[in-house]
Amino acid sequence: SMAEKGGFRHFMLKEIYEQPQAVLNTFRGRLNPETGEISLPEISLLPEEIQRISKIFIVACGTSYHAGLVGKYLLERWVGIPVEVDLASEFRYRHLLIDNHTLAIPISQSGETADTLAGLRMARQMGAKIISICNVLGSTITRESHGTIYTHAGPEIGVASTKAFTSQLTALLLLTFYLAQARGTSPEGCRELLSALVAVPGILENWLPKWHKTSEEIAQRFYKARNFLYLGRNIHFPIALEGALKLKEISYIHAEGYAAGEMKHGPIALIDEQMPVVALAPKDHVYEKMVSNIEEVRSRRGQVISLVTEGDETLPEVSQATIHLPQVVPEVSPIVATVPLQLLAYEIAVTLGCDVDQPRNLAKSVTVE
Ligand code: G6P
Repeated sequence: SMAEKGGFRHFMLKEIYEQPQAVLNTFRGRLNPETGEISLPEISLLPEEIQRISKIFIVACGTSYHAGLVGKYLLERWVGIPVEVDLASEFRYRHLLIDNHTLAIPISQSGETADTLAGLRMARQMGAKIISICNVLGSTITRESHGTIYTHAGPEIGVASTKAFTSQLTALLLLTFYLAQARGTSPEGCRELLSALVAVPGILENWLPKWHKTSEEIAQRFYKARNFLYLGRNIHFPIALEGALKLKEISYIHAEGYAAGEMKHGPIALIDEQMPVVALAPKDHVYEKMVSNIEEVRSRRGQVISLVTEGDETLPEVSQATIHLPQVVPEVSPIVATVPLQLLAYEIAVTLGCDVDQPRNLAKSVTVE
């Protein structure tokens, strides 16, 4: 009924709109923006154990895997420990170099995904410390971890993950700051990032209605396309993957996420006037590179839907549609840039008459291999 959906047409839309609260609930009580201190008592690691970590593995499936890819950028930049991100179904069958100096981070909304759980058990057996990121209290993955950072997104009903994802990104930021503090790497920088994170719920709240309106318009123009390409670089590359995943999950349109610089090694062959290309191009250190990629798409008459920082006057000129993003630091930008892509996928799926909350062939939680 509409009532259980809080007046929204679908759970997915309700959950998209719950993201300001979900992000807030995930960092609330865990950070002190004045002192820059992070409290995560659930990480029951001793200071000397944290000092000893020499390698981090992030293990997850689906949308949670995309959060893990963002986590790699954060942790390597601010904590300075090498991070590998594995799809759990691959992790469990490869030759793993894990020992008791390894930290493994399983990420799972449900805490019940079979492959992620199997990966956790293997890493643990090989001596790794396990700190999971999970949304469901007391789930199997949390019970088998040494510690869990709970995302406080609240129950997620829509099969396509939305608020759980942005909450996972929030939890990964907290974990990054926590480890950076414990190891004494860049405490100053981290404090600035904390204020950026604290501002995110308000930013999302402000921007949601504009993004929704723009997404409706773009959906009306592009819903008939049979293929979409999503491009991004650096910390926005995983967001391109996630944007494409959202679209294919709920609209059944074939969509591919690609690292923009890799386009010339394949996907560029597919580009013609029928191909919408969603380009994540906020003003960051790879912006100029994205501009060149967009020019490459345009010279093959691809239809560019660009996501650009407010005030950018260059890219809207060469794009067929533009979604504006607020000016934020790169570390929180993935949280912000994800939301309009969720809305775009949602509006396209609704226009096509798809059952967005219960897409065919998909399950909310995959508890068998
Ligand atoms: C299923 C869901 C996805 C989810 C994935 C991993 O495929 O449909 O939305 O991202 O499982 O689930 P988890 O609960 O481990 O995050």
